[in-house]
Amino acid sequence: MRADPQAPEGRALPSTGAVSGVLEALAFFRDPQFAGDRFQRYGDVFETKLVGQSLVFIRGERAIDDLLSQSEATEGWWPESVRQLLGRRSLANRNGADHRARRRVVGQLFSAAALRRYSPQISQLVDQLASDLRLSTEPVALVDRMRRFAFAVIASVVLGLEGHDIEALFADFEIWTRALFSVPIALPGTPFAKALQARARLLERLRGVLECARDRPTGGLDLLSGGLDEAGLPLTDDDLVEQLLLLLFAGYETTASSLSCLMAALLQHPPVLAWLQEEIQALPWPSGEAVSTPRLDAVVQEVMRLNPPVGGFFRRTIRPLLLDGVLVPAGRVVQVALASSNRTSRNGAADLEAFRPARHLEPNNGLTLLPFGGGERVCLGKALAELEIRLMAVGLLQQVQLELVADQDLSLALIPSPSPRDGLLVTAR
Ligand code: HEM
Repeated sequence: MRADPQAPEGRALPSTGAVSGVLEALAFFRDPQFAGDRFQRYGDVFETKLVGQSLVFIRGERAIDDLLSQSEATEGWWPESVRQLLGRRSLANRNGADHRARRRVVGQLFSAAALRRYSPQISQLVDQLASDLRLSTEPVALVDRMRRFAFAVIASVVLGLEGHDIEALFADFEIWTRALFSVPIALPGTPFAKALQARARLLERLRGVLECARDRPTGGLDLLSGGLDEAGLPLTDDDLVEQLLLLLFAGYETTASSLSCLMAALLQHPPVLAWLQEEIQALPWPSGEAVSTPRLDAVVQEVMRLNPPVGGFFRRTIRPLLLDGVLVPAGRVVQVALASSNRTSRNGAADLEAFRPARHLEPNNGLTLLPFGGGERVCLGKALAELEIRLMAVGLLQQVQLELVADQDLSLALIPSPSPRDGLLVTAR
């Protein structure tokens, strides 16, 4: 007999049978094949437990489409540590009209007009990096440079911070980030307690940035003026600063990861780099216009397919849902496993482990790729991230010839986002 007469009919949810979830959690952090192995065994929708937290993993176009197309049946979800460190006002922790209103306000920072404003400054940061690389007599760790670049774009180009402020913000931000996926107990001296203190300092500094932006607009913050909440009232500063903190979190590590993985992939595949250079060398630099770049787009898609900067994102079901024919009860946390999904295709292509950008220029390749998520919570900074990647690829590859330093570990550390383990050491000409 079914417990809920309103629930849709579907197959029962397969489960790994984990009870405490301790072993599953160890495997989750140690084994890159964690989700892939279980999908093989249980199918594209299954449930397991990670230290007490039940999680439904899903992959494949059908299950993901079913989830994202029924947004009224789901809400956003983050682990408790992330929830507390982002704050209750953050749009990441809101739902419904509250969430939509804040997306509208913050989205003004990423409009086409805003991006046109940021583009020259981002190009200058790329030129500066190209010149530093050419002048350096020592090998340079490109991962570190990509991180600094991505942070500078958010902190200085978008938020308008300068010199000393950026350094102080960066130091606190690193303390805050370290505890994002930690145990959320604020005992004195724990990373989580330190992160809460860093959060208070970060919010104070961001409040200062907002006030400065009112007197002397730099960056894009003047674009936020006039933003209204769901009741048609202006957002308070307490509210706005939590949205700015979210932008630092969401836009920095992710973009830095995609840039490092892009450069690593190109340097390890010289024929692909040569093929891409034919397109890149013919482009104007610096350029304000968006010219068509099919090869660059294909390379970026392939890098994000194999190494998505965000390996998965979450939703919680608020009523029973059918995902690819499997009945997922209300109140379950669902993780969309992008990394595993990207290695499956509708037409059963056999070479999905290989790095082959040209597949994205072929019609009907059977792939559904969602590196920026989808539905009502699709990445708000997608256009900015794409602009950063494009300007870095064109500007850097036109101006310097990079070579990998021998004998380094080029494998990727996957947490928090994929990044070459030895920092991607290069020399430049
Ligand atoms: C390559 C770089 C990036 C990737 C791969 C990426 C990916 C994602 C993904 C997968 C989500 C979750 C979407 C969902 O739940 O459906 C997300 C959310 C978000 N991203 Fe990005 N992101 C990137 C860069 C950025 C940048 C540069 C910003 C802004 C500065 C940004 C701001 C956000 C925000 C605010 C959200 C939360 C949206 C919401 O909950 O409504 N992201 N991103």
